[in-house]
Amino acid sequence: MFDWMLPKNHAISILRKDHDTVKELFEEFEEAESVGDAEKIIDRALTALKIHAVLEEEIFYPAVRAHVGSEVMNEADEEHHLAKILIAELDRGPDQDHRTAKFAVLAENVRHHIREEENEMLPKAKEMDIDFEALGQRMLDRKASLLKNGIPRDAEHAMVAKANGKSGNGATAKRKAATPRKAAKAATRKGSERKTGTHAMM
Ligand SMILES: [Fe+2]
Repeated sequence: MFDWMLPKNHAISILRKDHDTVKELFEEFEEAESVGDAEKIIDRALTALKIHAVLEEEIFYPAVRAHVGSEVMNEADEEHHLAKILIAELDRGPDQDHRTAKFAVLAENVRHHIREEENEMLPKAKEMDIDFEALGQRMLDRKASLLKNGIPRDAEHAMVAKANGKSGNGATAKRKAATPRKAAKAATRKGSERKTGTHAMM
């Protein structure tokens, strides 16, 4: 069984602490009692996830990739990619169709990703004979600089911005495209009902 009793500044301890923080935020979101509270939690979670992704992609993943193997690492990369698309869409602001659903899907994806990291990637990475505390220190330094100077825009933010508000999801787009026809039909039906007096009692 994997022993998680590691020093606080061990790179794996730092990642696990971040995981616990975002999982707690997801739970708080699910229990939020107002839109304002939910928005504050979304804001905190998006910042935490963006910083965490930078630390992993710039520092931790390259350090462990060769040992862990491309199958697990490529899957992690793709999970980050999908999460970052959702994050970029959520970063467009609070006034959005499907915002709660989008954040709920992000939370589910991230929970799955965390499970895979903690059950597969991190136990395998821990076998390595490297200075995990020095790696952890690099991660903490990078986190401090991101908090101070801001988080650089990633490719997924550029991709979503390029879509210029047309992104979101195909299902929503289809529903919106279908609505005018449905609305027109309903209007026609209402008109004929009025003529025949079916609404007279309402
Ligand atoms: Fe990750």
